Amino acid sequence: MYTKSESQKLDQLTTELLSGKIYFEVKDKMNDLIRVIRYHDWKYYLQSEASINDQQYDTLFALLKKIETENPSFVLSDSPTQRIGLALSEEAKTVTHSVPMISLDNSYDADDLKSFDERLQKLLPNTSIEYCVEPKFDGSSIALLYENDKLVRAATRGNGVEGEDITHNARVLKSIPLQANFAEKGISKIELRGEVVIANDVFKKLNEDRAKENLKTFQNSRNTASGSLRMKDPTEAANRGLEAFMYQIGYAVDHNNDSVLGESLINHFDNINMLYSLGFKTPQSEKKICKNIEEVIAFCNEWEAKRETYNYEIDGMVVKVNNLEQQNRVGATGHHPRWAIAYKFKAKKARTKLLDIEYQVGRTGAITPVAKLEPVPLAGVTISSVSLHNEDFIKEKKLRLNAYVYVERSGDVIPYISAVDESSLDDNTQEIIFPSNCPSCNSLLVREAEESAWRCINLECVAKSEESIIHFASKEAMDIDGLGRDIIIRFMKEGLIKQIPDIYLLANKKNEILALDGWKEKSFKNLTEGIEASKNKALWRILVGLGIRHVGVIMAKKLAKQIKGIYDLQQWTTEHLLELEDIGPKVAESIRQFFSNESNIHLLKELENNGVSLVHNEMNSEQTGNVLAGKTFLFTGTLTKFTRDKAKELVEKNGGTILSGVSAKLNYLVAGAEAGSKLKKAQDIASIQIIDEDAFLKLIE
Ligand code: IVH
Repeated sequence: MYTKSESQKLDQLTTELLSGKIYFEVKDKMNDLIRVIRYHDWKYYLQSEASINDQQYDTLFALLKKIETENPSFVLSDSPTQRIGLALSEEAKTVTHSVPMISLDNSYDADDLKSFDERLQKLLPNTSIEYCVEPKFDGSSIALLYENDKLVRAATRGNGVEGEDITHNARVLKSIPLQANFAEKGISKIELRGEVVIANDVFKKLNEDRAKENLKTFQNSRNTASGSLRMKDPTEAANRGLEAFMYQIGYAVDHNNDSVLGESLINHFDNINMLYSLGFKTPQSEKKICKNIEEVIAFCNEWEAKRETYNYEIDGMVVKVNNLEQQNRVGATGHHPRWAIAYKFKAKKARTKLLDIEYQVGRTGAITPVAKLEPVPLAGVTISSVSLHNEDFIKEKKLRLNAYVYVERSGDVIPYISAVDESSLDDNTQEIIFPSNCPSCNSLLVREAEESAWRCINLECVAKSEESIIHFASKEAMDIDGLGRDIIIRFMKEGLIKQIPDIYLLANKKNEILALDGWKEKSFKNLTEGIEASKNKALWRILVGLGIRHVGVIMAKKLAKQIKGIYDLQQWTTEHLLELEDIGPKVAESIRQFFSNESNIHLLKELENNGVSLVHNEMNSEQTGNVLAGKTFLFTGTLTKFTRDKAKELVEKNGGTILSGVSAKLNYLVAGAEAGSKLKKAQDIASIQIIDEDAFLKLIE
C-alpha cells in the first residue's frame, strides 16, 4: 500500500513528530498524526513489522487524542482514535445485503473438482478457463460497505439476505481500514466480503490468559470470532485479536452508479491484490492462479498437507473462475455461484454415538465425566473418548447415552463435543445420571456453590493420591525420568507407594521392584537416577508438583522468583502475598489454604527428610545467566545440536523468552534444516535475525 519512498517519508515524519515538530496550524499537525498512525497500523497489522515501539506509538496516539479533545469540531469520523465508538450499540440492527451473500457448493475430492471443471467447460465452450485458488478461512463472514472512501457499514452474513449491523465492532479491527482510496480506482461505493478470524497462536494465548484469570476458555476460534463480532461493547472485540481477510468484492460502482466489476476490475486475482494495495488484509502468498483443473487439484492437495502448519484455521480451499466476465456469463443457481466451489478438507467434525460415561477422579478430587464414543476418524486420528468437563456441560449440551453427537477438533485444541444430534434423541437414549459417590472410594461427593465440579473430599481417596503422584512426577512438574503414569499406577497397586514422599523411598525397594514383570537392573537404575536428580529441581517445579490450585507453571515461576524457599509462602499473610507481583486474590487465597493444612506441611517435611531441596541453592538454580534477557526466540526446522525442549530450557535459563509464532515481536529465529513457512515469514520481517544452531550456542556461550 505504501511505496518505499512513501514509507521513508512517513518514517521521517514520525521521527519529527516524536521529537516535537512545530506546526503553525494545529489541523496540519492533526492530519500528519493521522497519516503516520495509519501508516504504523498498516505496517504492524498487515506487514507484521514495526518501525516504532509501543511506547512511541502510544505517544503519537496521545498527541492526536489531545488535539481532538481540545478541538472537538476537528474530529474526523475515520480518525484512528474513533475506532471505538462512544456509545454501546443498542439492539443489533438488521441489515439487508444489497447483493445476497450466497454460499458455495462443496467438493470433496479430485473427481468432484473435475466435474466442476467439466460443467464450466460446457457453459463456456471454446474458452480457456483460469482459476484462482485460495484458502477457505474458517471464521465468521462479514460484508464491509465503503462509500466515498469511508467505511460506513459492516454486517454479518446472517441468513445471506439479512445480517446484523456490526459496524461498531468492525471499526476496532486494525486490519479493517476506516478509509481507503477507492476513488483513485474510480469506485465511489463498494462492498467487500471477507472472513473474520483469530490466528491460532493468538487464540492459544487468549485462552491461556483467560485460564489464568479463571475465565471460561473458548472452544474454537470460529465461534469466538463470531461471538466477539456480535457483542455490544467494542472494547471486548478489540481485545480478542480478531483479524479480517477480505476475499471477494460483492459489488462496486462508479459515481454514475454503474458497476465497475468486469469493466475496469477484470479479474479476481488482481482485484484482491488491489484491495491489498489499498490497505486490506487479503490472501496474498496463499492464493494462486491455476491454468487448469490439474493445477487446482495439486494446489488443494498441497494446502491440505500443510494445513496444520498455517497459523489460521482453514477448512478447505475456494476455487474461483478468475475472469469476472466469465463469472457473469455462468451466473448462479438459487443457492450457489456456478463459477466457484469450495474444496473441503477431510472433516475436523464427525458424528458418532455416545456409548458410555466414565467418571475420573482428579488430584483435587474433582470428578470429570469422560464420554466413551464409538471410535470415529477425525482429521487424521481416531477419537474414542472426549472430556465432558462437568455435570453442567452434559445438561447444556442435552447429552444422553446412545445419542449421536458431533465431535470437533480445531488447531491443536483437543477434541470436544460441539453438539448433540437432536434427531437422535429417541426412546433408545437414556438420561445421564451424575454419580453421587466417588467412583474410587465411594464417599459422598460435594459441590460447593459457584463451583462447576463435584468433588471427592476424602483425604485418603486412593484415586486422588494416584493423580497427585502422577502430577508431581510429570514433565511439567518434577519431570522425573522413568516414572510415568503407568509405572505409578502399578507401584500403587503393589503397595510400593501411597503418597508423594514415598517416591524417594523406592531406591530402598530394589528387590520388590525387580520381582515385578518387565523390571531389570537397567530400568531400576534409570528410575533411581531420575528420582535422585529430581531432589534438586528448580523450586518452581516443586511448586507446580504440589498441585496448589491456580498455581500452574507460569504462576509457579513467578512465585519462585520472589521467594528464598518454599516455607516463605507459609509465613506470608494473604496481604503480603497480594503485594507480590502478579498475584491475585484467588492465588493468594489458595496458597494460604494450602499452607494452613497440616497434612500439606507434613508432606513438605517428609520430602525434605527424603532429601528434596525446598530452597534455592546452587544445584537447583535454573537461570544461569541473563545474556538473553528481553530477547525472544523461536526454533524451526530440524534441530541436530539439541532437542526442542533443551532449546527452550537454554533460552529460559539465560533469561530469554520463547514465542510460538513469527511476528514483529520476534528477535531471533533459529532455523535448522528444512525450515518451512516460519523461515519464509521471518525473512520478510527485517527486524528478525535468522541464525543457525551454532550461532545460537555462541549467543549463550
Ligand atoms: S467466496 C459467492 N472465498 O465460506 C462466493 N468464501 O459458503 C462467496 N469463506 O461463509 C464466497 N473463505 O464466508 C469465499 N476465500 C474465500 C472464503 C470464503 C471463507 C466462507 C464464506 C462463506 C463460506 C462459503
